[in-house]
Amino acid sequence: MPITKAILTGGGRATRLRPITTNLNKHLIPLANKPMIFHAIEKAVEAGITDIFINVNPEETELQKVVGDGSRWGIRVQFFVQKGGPQGIAHVVKCAEKFVGNDPFMFYLSDNIILASLKPLFKKFDEENLDCLIALSKVPDPERFGVPHFNQNGKLVEVLEKPENPPSDFAVTGIYLFSPNYFKAFGTIEKSARGEYEIPSIFNYFLQNGYTIGYEEITGWWKDTGKPDDLILANKLLMDTMQFDSTKTHIGAGITIGNDVKLIGPVIIGDNCVLENCSVGPYVSIGAGSKINGVAITNSIIFENTTVSSPLVIERGIIGSNASIIG
Ligand code: G1P
Repeated sequence: MPITKAILTGGGRATRLRPITTNLNKHLIPLANKPMIFHAIEKAVEAGITDIFINVNPEETELQKVVGDGSRWGIRVQFFVQKGGPQGIAHVVKCAEKFVGNDPFMFYLSDNIILASLKPLFKKFDEENLDCLIALSKVPDPERFGVPHFNQNGKLVEVLEKPENPPSDFAVTGIYLFSPNYFKAFGTIEKSARGEYEIPSIFNYFLQNGYTIGYEEITGWWKDTGKPDDLILANKLLMDTMQFDSTKTHIGAGITIGNDVKLIGPVIIGDNCVLENCSVGPYVSIGAGSKINGVAITNSIIFENTTVSSPLVIERGIIGSNASIIG
């Protein structure tokens, strides 16, 4: 049975991205001028998802406003809060049990940015009638992630969460496909030493109890955007996948370009921006309503309604919304 339901994360505190996330939900950070979570939703929709259930922090209102009811993508989107507060991401899924019912589903950590399509993963899950499909990516620092352990015969035997001595150089990405047997597994697992219900405990239950687990390496680039540098890189790579015209620029409606402006694509400029006497690009995205004057800026993300009017050179910068840099 093809998967049509997905649970997405939209909560958390994102302390490693402060101060950008002090008063902005990480999932709303613009990448290629679109809120981060839109990229996750679009990948899900492209793979055949029609119903999405997004986990939010209890006080959240902005994410619901920005994402809306899903009609923008021709799907249905609803939101839910983790009952009893944060207890790990495996518990987020447990809180969505009613939404899932008896159907298979995708669980997607929305700070995971991928370039490739999810369709091959969905196809494999369906054709092989799996209980779980794990998406893997080769990384230089597996100790930061869930890591699969393969035995001498290359068989997946265990998944370890953030092991000091990783048994392979693969990360388990934050994109998981599950059958409803997930909830049977959840009923058996315990919290880890860091006090959380971990997704690898679910995998290990499946592996030890004769369920069918598959895995697939994600082709192309994958990143969990936990640090500011990850955002700059994700912004760049997403821009590389976009369709541009020969100028390699996307320019919004109502923008004003004054004298002495040099745009070096790829560049994305949102609606109603004003640019004067500046050099912008490559790999710069500027949110709607921003005013840029006097700057030379490369590889950077400027959020909405920000003014930069100063003879600065900005390289690999992130400037939040409603900021003023003048002088
Ligand atoms: C979570 C999972 C980890 C996975 C990672 C991928 O870690 O616990 O197994 O490899 O997502 O993004 P976190 O980013 O919550 O530390």
